[in-house]
Amino acid sequence: MNKEILELISNKYDFKNKSAEEILQLGINDITTAVKELGNEPSDFFSKDKCDSYLETDDIGREMYLFKSVKSTNTVAKFLSRNVSNGTVILSETQTRGRGRKGTEYQSPKGGIWLSIILKPDVTPSKAPLLTLATAVAVTRTLDHFNIHAEIKWPNDILIHDKKVCGILTESIARFNNLESVIIGVGINSEIDINEFPEEIRDCSIALSDVVDGDINPEKGTAYFFKEFEFIYNKFLEGDIGFIFDEWRKYNHTIGKFVEIQQPLGKVINGYAVGIDQEGALVIEKADHTLVKVVSGRCRLLD
Ligand code: BTN
Repeated sequence: MNKEILELISNKYDFKNKSAEEILQLGINDITTAVKELGNEPSDFFSKDKCDSYLETDDIGREMYLFKSVKSTNTVAKFLSRNVSNGTVILSETQTRGRGRKGTEYQSPKGGIWLSIILKPDVTPSKAPLLTLATAVAVTRTLDHFNIHAEIKWPNDILIHDKKVCGILTESIARFNNLESVIIGVGINSEIDINEFPEEIRDCSIALSDVVDGDINPEKGTAYFFKEFEFIYNKFLEGDIGFIFDEWRKYNHTIGKFVEIQQPLGKVINGYAVGIDQEGALVIEKADHTLVKVVSGRCRLLD
């Protein structure tokens, strides 16, 4: 059993006053029910009913669990994935150990939108990474709708004025080359005081409240994002990958720039970003004019 999930429900089940045997006797159904109940408690930050009143989707966000605090919404989403419908959303006011790409910790204080969408697409696992690009497009199209111009830095950072406002972490659950679920984790700095972020990321981060005049309506924004997400997700399911790439290129902040890519094993590639291929890999022209494809890595813009 996942330790994070047991910790999440430990207060509800009064674990402090229970023996290890009693805890071990809890079945998966008891734990699932307890997690779902915790995700139905009222919140003063975000109203599920209000979000519902704006919702125009068939699936995305129709089932939603909203927590006060979890370690990571992606972890809760993974745990619940088998027992919820396609499009279910896990949202939390705060995350105490939000996960970023490459094992980094993602700052998730109250005031941000920290959510995970559970998808059950009938596609091969190799297609799942495209959903990260699709999600980036859904976020930028949503911001555009509210007159906020944002751009996508490969592979999946959303920037406003060159500073990060949103990160995306896609995780797949696959068994024997069968994709059971895909978890799309999205973190948006909505109404956050960036000065409270750790020094090393303060200067390169921004919140929506830094660029929006007046009040932010998180429920309206989130419901609209679900609509955009469902639209793009349907394109993905229909195989209309061209649409996703065209939209991605429209908002891209990487192609046509000199970049430095730090790859997982410490390898660094410098060059001019000329495009992305059909799998979402970045194509770079090096100084010697050879082309290389980069599948993953941390991207730094050099100009
Ligand atoms: C990144 O830019 O490194 C990816 C960050 C993804 C953060 C979101 S917040 C909601 C979801 N839960 C997590 O633990 N991570 C993702």
